[in-house]
Amino acid sequence: MTQHFSTTGHDTFVGSPRSRVDGPAKVTGLAKYAAEFTASDLAHGYVVSSAIAKGRITRIDARAAEAVPGVVKVLTHENRDRTAWLDYNYQDAVAPPGSPFRALYDDAILYSGQPVALVIAEDFETARYAATLVRVKYDTETPVTDVRQVEDEAYVPPKKRNGIKPPPKPWGDADAAFDNAPIQLRQDYRLAIEHHNPMEPHASTVVYEGDGKYTVYDKIQGVSNSQAYIASVFGLKKDDVRVMNPYLGGGFGSGLRPQYQLFLAMLAARDLKRSVRVVLTRDQMWTFSYRPDALQTVSLGADRDGGLQALRHDATGATSHFEDYQEVVVNWAGVLYKCDNVALTYKLAKLDTHTPSDMRAPGAVTGVFAIEIAMDELAYETGVDPIALRLRNYSDVDATAGGKLFGSKALKSCFEQGAERFGWAKRTPEPRSMRDGRELVGWGMATGVWESMMMQTNARAVLTADGKLEVGNTAGEIGTGTYTILAQIAADSLGLPMEDVTTKLGDTSLPEAPVSGGSWTAASSGTAVMKACRSVAAQVFVLARQMEASPLANVDFERVVFADGRIAVADDPSRSVSLVEAMRAGGMDRIEAVESATPDKDFNSAYEAYTHSAVFVEVKIDEELGQVRLTRVVSAIAAGKILNPKTARSQILGGVVMGIGSALEEESMMDHRLGRFMNHNLGEYHVPVNADIYDIDVIFVDEEDKANPLGVKGLGEIGIVGTAAAIANAVFHATGKRMRHLPITVDKLL
Ligand code: MOS
Repeated sequence: MTQHFSTTGHDTFVGSPRSRVDGPAKVTGLAKYAAEFTASDLAHGYVVSSAIAKGRITRIDARAAEAVPGVVKVLTHENRDRTAWLDYNYQDAVAPPGSPFRALYDDAILYSGQPVALVIAEDFETARYAATLVRVKYDTETPVTDVRQVEDEAYVPPKKRNGIKPPPKPWGDADAAFDNAPIQLRQDYRLAIEHHNPMEPHASTVVYEGDGKYTVYDKIQGVSNSQAYIASVFGLKKDDVRVMNPYLGGGFGSGLRPQYQLFLAMLAARDLKRSVRVVLTRDQMWTFSYRPDALQTVSLGADRDGGLQALRHDATGATSHFEDYQEVVVNWAGVLYKCDNVALTYKLAKLDTHTPSDMRAPGAVTGVFAIEIAMDELAYETGVDPIALRLRNYSDVDATAGGKLFGSKALKSCFEQGAERFGWAKRTPEPRSMRDGRELVGWGMATGVWESMMMQTNARAVLTADGKLEVGNTAGEIGTGTYTILAQIAADSLGLPMEDVTTKLGDTSLPEAPVSGGSWTAASSGTAVMKACRSVAAQVFVLARQMEASPLANVDFERVVFADGRIAVADDPSRSVSLVEAMRAGGMDRIEAVESATPDKDFNSAYEAYTHSAVFVEVKIDEELGQVRLTRVVSAIAAGKILNPKTARSQILGGVVMGIGSALEEESMMDHRLGRFMNHNLGEYHVPVNADIYDIDVIFVDEEDKANPLGVKGLGEIGIVGTAAAIANAVFHATGKRMRHLPITVDKLL
């Protein structure tokens, strides 16, 4: 790597497998989540959800609820504080174009499950009971919740969502080339609606501090987003609202945007001038964000050797009536494959639902699944091995970005190392040709791809005269290992042991970072922390050089290394000063630096940045029962420098498990007559459990990238992409049945 990150010249901690520094706090219960913070004057809010999906509230009768002893108040659109929602146009940091959902705004019902009242009581159980007594009368209209019903009204979103690349203009003539191609494949693909369902349900605890000041504990992937939201929606000064969220019990994107429980808890706290907590129930986790439905058609025209001659990917994604949610669904084939005639289109169709949201690798999970099954179909059609087919059409440039080079793309290594580890060479290509006793065996593979991003991010480093270092910013630790990797980077940057480093995250009193999402936190906060530590290092170095008879006198900063708590001359380690001595000599108790990490403009104008994977899976299928066991997964990942192989591996494992969910289990089923999700609980919405998981092998291939000084590309999302397609492809290999609609459940397979 040419741009080495470390001021020490050695990587002591970075790159080594480290257990989570927050692990002990999590397993002992010391780590507190949004609903666990409390206050002596705490009241509890319980949400009453709309029973209809579309229409108007004609009457709300809360008298019986208010008569229950212990009930403090029932808030509805009729009696809420009118100063809220004054700023109608406020959009949070990751909002798509439109008007974000406003709870208790008026009598209109926009979707099933919409909050219509908040019952506040002295304890949770009383609030929950009283909520059952709130009577709501509606004028009901017929909702439209099936995207197939409004496909004809689909439109190209007039306003682009921030940060989301719209499909590129077509090149060549995809339709003519398709018509002339010797091999023509055109199929529809569909992924079920999925809900994030993190273990920790959404919750907000608002502590009223008096004098119009609040401390808010919110389930959010970035506290700055909640702070700005509260300040704007309630017309408060940011300084009057401190938002904290040191830990998340999973987010997967559901916690990127402030959700209605935050608004309701703040509304109640302001109204009552006391502290209020609102926790959503598991079934209420189906009343906001989800991975949207998309109708997709992939058309591949190819020569008889599988060389692509035409490529079309057309998708219509669902959104709400109030926002144009957009994600990158159709661009991926153009990023991955070389083809002279390409057309990629993406439209939206409005439904009477809440706005969908980002869910782990949003858009890529949806689009890559379709493309990677289509490529497998082409492999069988042409008799070309699936890996050979991908190599034949391998692209060395990003055609969707005008042919820009990739900063790095070690996907070929992923194919090679993944195939080797999996034993792909032993596969017999014929469907139904492999068996293990009474089970059919299927081997399938697919490519994964995700954007590698970095965001403008600030961080602080504080070194105190006892030799302890504290680093941090407002970023959310969404369970990925952010505390750990930042401590590793900080420790190496100042040559301190990891035990002497404390990381603080998720607190708006710290320098601002964007929401933790898009797999950009390691690159963004990692670089910002490194820069802040370097800045501290430079300041300590000045003190060290100014010491009387300093062994570092006349030595340049570039010639010293920081290691073992000391600053030493690189080529003469006998000349050194400890950080503590230098600070004492300079009379400094603390040295503080705040620095910003900014995406590298020069790099970004020259290169496109993606992470890649090759996913290999083995399924064993009992044909009589239609039961699919996923007995082996090998996921080979190219994601630049791996800061911590242990937490990195965990990210991939989690992504793969979620991909198994997409492929085989997860499906939020809508009753279109009611516009309501039917299986809104974890009993009926199936996610993989331990018994569904066999062997998952993760490989990180070597990849050098220069998008940021750390060489990091981010890992939170790439593990899920490609996994579902690989499974569907293995199911075809085992059974000869092509599954294009996920999840692959017993009924579809039999
Ligand atoms: Mo991720 S879907 O950006 O939390």
